[in-house]
Amino acid sequence: MPIDIPEYATPATNRQVLLTTRPDGIPQPEHFTLAEAAVPKPAENQILIRNIYLSVDPAQRGWASAEANYSQPVPLGGPMRALAVGVVIESRADGFRAGDFLYGFFGWQDYAAVGPEAVLHRATENLPLAAFASLAGINGVTAYLALTRLGRPVEGDTLVVSTAAGSVGSFVGQIGKKHGCRTIGITGDDDKVNRCIETFGYDAAINYKSADVAAELDALAPGGVNVYYDNTGGTILDTVLRRMNVGGRIVQCGTASVASWTPPPTGPRNEREIMTRRLVWSGFVIFDHLNIYAEAVGDLARMWAAGDIAYDTDLSSDIAETPGAIAALYAGENRGKKLIFIG
Ligand SMILES: NC(=O)c1ccc[n+]([C@@H]2O[C@H](COP(=O)([O-])OP(=O)(O)OC[C@H]3O[C@@H](n4cnc5c(N)ncnc54)[C@H](OP(=O)(O)O)[C@@H]3O)[C@@H](O)[C@H]2O)c1
Repeated sequence: MPIDIPEYATPATNRQVLLTTRPDGIPQPEHFTLAEAAVPKPAENQILIRNIYLSVDPAQRGWASAEANYSQPVPLGGPMRALAVGVVIESRADGFRAGDFLYGFFGWQDYAAVGPEAVLHRATENLPLAAFASLAGINGVTAYLALTRLGRPVEGDTLVVSTAAGSVGSFVGQIGKKHGCRTIGITGDDDKVNRCIETFGYDAAINYKSADVAAELDALAPGGVNVYYDNTGGTILDTVLRRMNVGGRIVQCGTASVASWTPPPTGPRNEREIMTRRLVWSGFVIFDHLNIYAEAVGDLARMWAAGDIAYDTDLSSDIAETPGAIAALYAGENRGKKLIFIG
């Protein structure tokens, strides 16, 4: 059973954040419209959910765009696709009961009537409710599965992580440390450099906006890099790639620094580095791994209970902040997992 469940009301209307124009790049407040609708009624095999925490995720840039992606673009005029933690108000679907706490694709809105396929996880573990959208959300589960299964860290490895102070990056650093790695984070300001070291246990961290990343890496990792967990792509990736050891692993988890993929951006050619360093460069998308999601949450919840992993939440409590929240995330304003409490 989740703990730290906040009080939540059940209002008579459904506030929604609609995607009303298609962004070219990072979604801005003007691409969304706040609206109110009737509370939906669940159809047969659906559940009615009252959202409590709305999640803000970098992936929403891709979901809102018309660019070819691993998912269909969010329909214009509909509620913005978003993960959320909510509680079941009414169930017309087998296996769900009023009072169940769930995490899934419930959208930026007060209420969602959805089928079971929208649910990613049933929040049963003894974790604070908000943790189901951070540690036990796609952020923690991605960090855990992608690092351990694709990065395959071993004792003594040097692990470099980009967006290191963010939600995914903070978990990658902590899990890498547990595997005996020397951990080096890359992040966007000095306060986040401190958070990486003080809060998330990184051995060292680099401010990529003010430092010479190549020179810093040469100084901090004179023996080279074994595992690079990449959330940014772009010039940071190009810089780390040229410091990888033979047999190194690159986990491609995100591309936050690339403004647009249409047309494909140009940069240094990397194929010779991949060949001569015999690198394994693997892509990861969490939605391919939903069959082991609950198992991964179980592992993460045990780590949290043992005091082996910490998480940080950047919480707002006004749905009116939601339209600007993706842009704020890309501007690096968040300190921890960005959530909006709307209960
Ligand atoms: N593949 C998957 O299945 C999967 C699942 C979840 C998340 N992800 C990816 O994991 C990454 C982190 O996600 P998160 O939810 O934990 O977000 P987050 O790190 O908490 O927030 C995003 C961070 O990205 C950094 N950033 C933004 N623009 C940047 C740029 N131009 N260059 C370098 N860094 C930039 C900012 O941090 P700084 O201040 O440090 O720049 C910002 O705080 C994202 O790339 C996301 O797409 C992938």
